[in-house]
Amino acid sequence: MSHERSGFSSRIGFVLATAGSAVGLGNIWRFPYLAAKYGGGSFLLIYLILTLTFGFALMITEVALGRRAGTSAINAFGHFNKKYTFIGYLTSFIPFIIFPYYCVIGGWVTKYMAVSLQGQIHAAASDDFFTGFIGKTEEPILYLLIFLVITTIIVAFGVKGGIERVSTFMMPVLIVLLIGVSIFCITRPGALAGVVYYLKPSLKDFGPTTFLAALGQLFYSMSLAMGIMITFGSYMPKKSDLEKSVAQVECFDTGVAFLAGLMIVPAVFVFSNGDSSMLAKGPSLMFVMLPKVFDSMAFSNGIGAVFFILVLFAALTSSISLLETLVAVLMDKFHMRRIPAVILLFFIALLMALPSSLGYGALSGITIIGFSILDFFDFLSNSVLMPIAAFLTCIFTAYVIKPDVIVNEVESSGKFHRKSLFLVMIKYIAPLCIIAILIFSVLEGLG
Ligand code: PHE
Repeated sequence: MSHERSGFSSRIGFVLATAGSAVGLGNIWRFPYLAAKYGGGSFLLIYLILTLTFGFALMITEVALGRRAGTSAINAFGHFNKKYTFIGYLTSFIPFIIFPYYCVIGGWVTKYMAVSLQGQIHAAASDDFFTGFIGKTEEPILYLLIFLVITTIIVAFGVKGGIERVSTFMMPVLIVLLIGVSIFCITRPGALAGVVYYLKPSLKDFGPTTFLAALGQLFYSMSLAMGIMITFGSYMPKKSDLEKSVAQVECFDTGVAFLAGLMIVPAVFVFSNGDSSMLAKGPSLMFVMLPKVFDSMAFSNGIGAVFFILVLFAALTSSISLLETLVAVLMDKFHMRRIPAVILLFFIALLMALPSSLGYGALSGITIIGFSILDFFDFLSNSVLMPIAAFLTCIFTAYVIKPDVIVNEVESSGKFHRKSLFLVMIKYIAPLCIIAILIFSVLEGLG
């Protein structure tokens, strides 16, 4: 099977596509408000340290497991030890839950991009525009469909011709747009207070809550524990330096998150005359508050359009990684060919996305343990299943196959500089941290 398996054509192709997966809505919308909520600079510092230690160890583990096994998550664990195939099943099930609702949100981003391009950001800035839109039946489904079709077409073109090609175009454009909008935002009058607020550490915020919030965000932001990194690792050229590549993906992911904060926090400060409480709006920040912010600025429609194009690129490169991971499961496990696999998944995803999309309108009466349908899927995957899958992956690596497998794989393509750090993290610290995230996020979600 492995001889006909396609892969990335180069190390840079791997880095950009993997960074494309990691950089997503989590970086642009979630990171800035978490940073603002948990004391700016303190959160940044803790996040950075965790990226270089915990995030590094988990990401290198998944990529190396994938490259060594030469298959996606569904077979990867069983490849080393048949008894542990179930971890592969669990891990592969997670993108199956995430992909449909991620496309619903991708559809909302597509709508906002269309609105800005039509010069109507002022209308989008009104209070009930967002709830009015997501409460409708046909329109959100239409945009979900557009987003899903684009994702499907890219993945149908394969790893090299689709994913790699699109990522090598979208990721650099995303960075340029992000830098452009950040410079515009921080040079508005009154923005400096926001920059200071974002960057200044405050001692009182160094605590366990900030630590756990940063840890949870890191986990999601790096697309860990859903089989993506294992799948992409299996597409990585054997001779590419694994540690260096993972370090570059981390830089990309953290750099984009940092810049997104630099764009959003000062912009909100300018708009609200230094009142930071708006940042605490959390999830509604991006769709409700930012259009108001843009509307208050010069070139509102232009800025809005550039911003939502950038968010759309980030969301698309993440959604293609989700779909590719599912396609790889069908190809590796059921020996399906790419095009039939892609078509089958398109229809399954569409069917599964409909309840999430309708959950704010026609089906808004339905709640599952207090969550709307989309929020329930989000909670189930991010707060419950992903920590469990990550915990099992750590234990499997550290105590079943032993970390040497990872070390050998990394060393087969270059020097392993942070080997001791990796060993301590995977054996002791990472499993404990993950249990803490699991407890924290379940309590927070249910609380
Ligand atoms: N890592 C992505 C982000 O930061 C999230 C993601 C979720 C990516 C699911 C792929 C799949 O937004």
